[in-house]
Amino acid sequence: MSTASAATDETNKPFYLRGNYAPVAEEVEAFDLPVHGAIPPELNGHLLRNGPNPRNGTPEHWFFGDGMLHAVEFGGGRALSYRNRWIRTRPFLEKDVDLIDMSTGVADRTVAVANTHVVGHAGRVLALVESSFPTEVTCELETVGIYDFEGKLNTAMTAHPKICPDSGEMHFFGYGFMAPYLVYHCADAQGRLIKSEEITVPGPTMIHDFAMTESNIVFMDLPVVFDLEQAMRGAMPYRWSDDYGARLGVMPRGGTNSDVRWYEIEPCYVFHPLNAYDDGDDVVIDVVRYPELWRNGSGSFDSASLHRWRIDRSRAVVSEQALDDREIEFPRINEHLTGSKHRYGYATWNPDNVSGVSTAIVKYDLESGASQVHDFGPGRSPSEAVFVSASEKAAEDEGWLLTVVYDAADHASEAVLLDATDITARPVARVALPQRVPFGFHGNWIGR
Ligand SMILES: [Fe+2]
Repeated sequence: MSTASAATDETNKPFYLRGNYAPVAEEVEAFDLPVHGAIPPELNGHLLRNGPNPRNGTPEHWFFGDGMLHAVEFGGGRALSYRNRWIRTRPFLEKDVDLIDMSTGVADRTVAVANTHVVGHAGRVLALVESSFPTEVTCELETVGIYDFEGKLNTAMTAHPKICPDSGEMHFFGYGFMAPYLVYHCADAQGRLIKSEEITVPGPTMIHDFAMTESNIVFMDLPVVFDLEQAMRGAMPYRWSDDYGARLGVMPRGGTNSDVRWYEIEPCYVFHPLNAYDDGDDVVIDVVRYPELWRNGSGSFDSASLHRWRIDRSRAVVSEQALDDREIEFPRINEHLTGSKHRYGYATWNPDNVSGVSTAIVKYDLESGASQVHDFGPGRSPSEAVFVSASEKAAEDEGWLLTVVYDAADHASEAVLLDATDITARPVARVALPQRVPFGFHGNWIGR
């Protein structure tokens, strides 16, 4: 993607270069961080976070900035270290490198800003962006390089793979604006790519995420479509379509394209499902649903809230139910339950519906319908909350939520640990970080 010249006046800068969206300029590290409260001794590993941190200029969209990782290491009841590093991608290291060759329309998947998520699988840590191949990194934030599954991956890779807690397999997909528009992939527990299957869809749409149950893979083919004119001028190349329609595709795990059954739904957009599970022959998917997204290619975001889709496969219909009306994003569960019925979900919440920035985390009890809130207070904004289980045999919500909270008054960040069984309680621990962590996208816990 090309970049435009930077606006110099602070007030004329786009939102993603101001306040806590603004990039940090330094790579730092610090050890034995100050802690208020007590770090649980069970926490041994790294909290990794990823997000755009453009090194130069003004990207055309928040999504296009160079990826920067932040790592907070815990162990022995201490906050051992903090480190941040740009990911040494080709766009970071080389000048004038473009994902798409506009003369041929061909994408070079080694051009990866790697700014969206970071996932551990089969002993590797992968920084991900959905336009490109993964970039392998370490928990110390060294960049190993592009990882294409030993040459076997021939598409981009979603930033939201799903790891089966039973088999250890990693299920994912790649999408693109030229055919094949959607390809499903599966890597085994050792990280070997064992399956790639083209999935037939009517056209090129933006497919950010998908869902998996114990028996099925669910694809979301939603009406945010590729727009060549927008792509040609370097803008976000997707926009809302009133014509494309919206469908969910269900493929049995181990199945092929010919086994996919498609079900019409009300047009909407979903970046992130919370989780999905089989309920008899039905498939249930909880999602953060936008009524629409990017009409006229606006690239801006309206509010989204928690909805449940139930795919009644015997009647071939999908029912849709609003579970809540709060404006949320970044839904997470205890990932020991990926693909199985979950009771609890966690998300960031924007209570005032004005600032566009979340200042709370909500915990949903989807069995009772109750919820809890941890309100960080005005000007204090949590990142996506990552659930870390207290042990292999712990109850579903027995563990901690790890989040990085930005405090506008101090223009500084801290890592905050909440007791997931009662998120209304005071934090278990707060760890002052030596550098502000800009608002980013996703993160994960990589345990030792
Ligand atoms: Fe995402």
